[in-house]
Amino acid sequence: MSNKNIAGNFITLEGGEGVGKSTQAKQLQQRLAKEGIHAILTREPGGCDSAEIIRQLLVTGATDKWLPLSEALLHFAARHEHTERFIKPALHKGSWVICDRYTDSTMAYQGYGQHLDLGQIETLQKLVLGDFQPDLTFILDGPATIGLERAKARNDEHSRAEAGLREDRYERMGKDFHETLRSSFQKIAMSCPKRCKIIDATGSIKDVHQRIWQHIKLARAGFSEGADGNRT
Ligand code: TMP
Repeated sequence: MSNKNIAGNFITLEGGEGVGKSTQAKQLQQRLAKEGIHAILTREPGGCDSAEIIRQLLVTGATDKWLPLSEALLHFAARHEHTERFIKPALHKGSWVICDRYTDSTMAYQGYGQHLDLGQIETLQKLVLGDFQPDLTFILDGPATIGLERAKARNDEHSRAEAGLREDRYERMGKDFHETLRSSFQKIAMSCPKRCKIIDATGSIKDVHQRIWQHIKLARAGFSEGADGNRT
């Protein structure tokens, strides 16, 4: 699946709030290290200085502060910075890159969740990324209510003194919004079955990691062959 011009592999983790993406990203990084593979962890929105500035505009404040198209544009502006300044250079150096969220989140949150036209998101994706896409995407699937509780607890733990700086803007978007997300990610996975693998996110951290690792093992043969060559 990987492009012969790029040495590393690009893995993304996707899913609703609090499904355990960050934990699994770390688990995967550690497991790859044991196999002698260097992988860098990063996240969206954010991942480099300029994109982190945009992140603050997106994850704090009133839920209705942006019109859906403006919001998608901000996500793609951050993604452009992150992809060109951080992800592609790391891949070219031969590192694997594990990214907590990428374009599938824009499709799920802004497209299905905030009802932005899916075709407009595809147009932005083409403009910003061309044919560049993850080699493999894990969609962590779990009940929205449990995920939201976990995400809230995490936010309370890291709560910033200034209320306006809490990174909980999306968490406050309501139960219906979050329930739609789960089925949206499932639809996205079904539309790209080669790239996207749905992972049952329930059970222990170790169980979920094993589910992910099975796919990495299967894919590694494909990665080393550099089959598709669709990256730029
Ligand atoms: P995080 O909590 O996983 O760090 O992500 C911050 C929030 O940003 C999360 O609630 C999902 C949201 N988001 C979008 O709405 N669209 C996107 O394209 C991305 C990458 C994230």
